[in-house]
Amino acid sequence: MTAILQNKENGVLTLTFNRVDKKNALTSDMYAALAEALSLAAATDDVRVVLLQGHETVFSAGNDIEDFLQQPPATPDSAVSRFLRGIAVFPKPLLASVCGPAVGVGTTMLLHCDLVYAGDNAAFSMPFVNLGLCPEAGSSLLAVQLMGYQRASEALLMGEPFMVETALELGLISRVLPPAEVNAYAQSQAQKMARKPLSSLMETKRLMKSARTPSVLSQMDEEAVVFGRLLKEPAAVEAFSAFKEKRKPVFH
Ligand code: COA
Repeated sequence: MTAILQNKENGVLTLTFNRVDKKNALTSDMYAALAEALSLAAATDDVRVVLLQGHETVFSAGNDIEDFLQQPPATPDSAVSRFLRGIAVFPKPLLASVCGPAVGVGTTMLLHCDLVYAGDNAAFSMPFVNLGLCPEAGSSLLAVQLMGYQRASEALLMGEPFMVETALELGLISRVLPPAEVNAYAQSQAQKMARKPLSSLMETKRLMKSARTPSVLSQMDEEAVVFGRLLKEPAAVEAFSAFKEKRKPVFH
């Protein structure tokens, strides 16, 4: 079964996380497929807008923990790094449709999207500290810019989840809908956007993001170095063992 479904319609490339039995946890192969699809979409004239979506019960449980341990992202050229860089510099509109849990990169990838529509069952969390890790995808910068330091601390230092009301108030998402309607609504918005002049869309997006893109990229590089180091330290080893053994981690 293909874990990343691709569908191209009326100028919209829809990338669907299709691994619901594992809560759409993202493996290295899935990151590679996403990175390649984004790179092709950026270069292909018939793709004008990209939409990322999951299932109406779950967006993504973040990195696949077992796969992550087997293939830790050791180089800047790793699949996860290529995907994260791909969404950070994607030159065309990037939309997301989110229902259910959006854990770790399931939330941090949204910080790079131009529009995010959510089901009223969406739950956002960035529990990196609870796993002995640190933020990725530039979220240590972008979450602070979006939420302010105190609320970013609740999300990143306490690892506390937040729901759609907060996400809407913060501006992480643009609209809340019933879960069964979100993907269709996001698709219609994506197709509406795809009918607008592409060079105007691309220049507008570039202008909106150009001031912060260099600092986001350098923050991502720094996060990746720290993340790689923490991944080998005892806290992360314990957190991942606990996840596999379905028990709570003991850090002290
Ligand atoms: N990596 C690998 N497998 C994962 C996963 C992940 N990140 N998240 C969920 N799964 C797997 C579970 O191990 C389980 O597999 P099994 O059926 O073979 O036992 C299956 O997906 C269902 O998960 P489960 O926890 O039973 O579902 P739930 O509905 O009770 O909870 C979540 C859903 C997303 C809240 C919960 O799975 C979760 O918190 N996952 C970990 C998320 C995480 O820490 N991600 C950050 C990684 S950096």
